[in-house]
Amino acid sequence: MTRTAQIVSTARYLPGRKVTNDELTARFSVLGLPDVINKFGASTGITQRFYAPDDWATSDLALPASQEALKRAGLKPEDVDLIVLGTDSPDYITPDTSVVLQYKLGAKNAGTFDVGCACASFPTAIALAAGLISANAGIRNVLVVAAYMMHKLSDPDDPVSFFYGDGAGAAVLTSGSMQGFVGAALQADGAYHSNWGIFSGGTFEPASEASVKAGRTKVRLVKPYPPEVNEEGWPRLFKRLAAENDFTADDVDQILFTQVRKPTIAVAAERCGVPVEKCHTIMEKYGYTGSACIAMALDDAIELGKIKRGNLIVMIGSGVGYNQAAVAFRMT
Ligand SMILES: CC(C)(COP(=O)(O)OP(=O)(O)OC[C@H]1O[C@@H](n2cnc3c(N)ncnc32)[C@H](O)[C@@H]1OP(=O)(O)O)[C@@H](O)C(=O)NCCC(=O)NCCS
Repeated sequence: MTRTAQIVSTARYLPGRKVTNDELTARFSVLGLPDVINKFGASTGITQRFYAPDDWATSDLALPASQEALKRAGLKPEDVDLIVLGTDSPDYITPDTSVVLQYKLGAKNAGTFDVGCACASFPTAIALAAGLISANAGIRNVLVVAAYMMHKLSDPDDPVSFFYGDGAGAAVLTSGSMQGFVGAALQADGAYHSNWGIFSGGTFEPASEASVKAGRTKVRLVKPYPPEVNEEGWPRLFKRLAAENDFTADDVDQILFTQVRKPTIAVAAERCGVPVEKCHTIMEKYGYTGSACIAMALDDAIELGKIKRGNLIVMIGSGVGYNQAAVAFRMT
């Protein structure tokens, strides 16, 4: 029997503390940078973000999104065969955040692993989950969850902290006979690996007093990516995904892109041949939530009725490194 992955439920979690651009402007004005937040706001469309309580870890964000997604799927934690968690702001360097989530969730029959390709993690994790479901009769219910708490790993005096909002999104994939998963396409260019990241704390440079003092254990945007990385990279990936899986731009009901910069989405949509109205955005209300943003946009779009049963959707994410991942799904 053919086994195909289907998305049976989604959910998202947004923590409670709202931080507006005005609040950040007041803070950066004191630091002698009165304009930077307004500039970032004008160029991206981001107006606010949300922070989790200070004593939370990334798995604490993933937990409520996962619980809600399971509830909506009519499943109990013990029904889950596999948890795939995407993040680049993990609880620890090791072990993976997914195994911490498995414990907190009580998913005692689930295996786990993390996907760590930054903000491309959710579409990558969906593609992996779909492949594992198709290839294994014993993997039926997969919880794919993406969570982001980069703000806790950022320097509050760094204006780029504008971009780090907390959040989580989850989807439950189950094995079925209708076509759900359509296909995936991935691309990367590791020449950019030192542009944006956390560069001390791993084997390249273990954390030391000197690296902590110099701020290298915090996330840093060292060199911005040229605009073409996404403006050309996303349409290239979309066209490849469509050609390899036998659909056209006209067949697509929604594309969900990484929610970092609204004008970039407009350029990419036009180059994909898809009206920008079919590209739901959430960054204006939830901020940029990195690895979690596409999962959260998916749930938001479903809740708003922008994605319905039978729709063909495409999710395209960019992560630092850089990685880009696109996945197409027929909603069943
Ligand atoms: C981070 C990013 C979104 C910012 O884009 P942007 O909002 O257009 O920001 P810009 O770099 O043009 O900066 C906006 C303004 O703030 C200023 N600014 C930027 N960083 C600053 C800083 N640290 N201090 C003071 N001013 C700063 C810039 O000089 C610019 O001012 P100007 O308008 O007077 O020229 C973009 O550089 C990027 O990397 N895009 C790709 C994102 C991506 O896909 N990443 C992988 C996934 S995480």
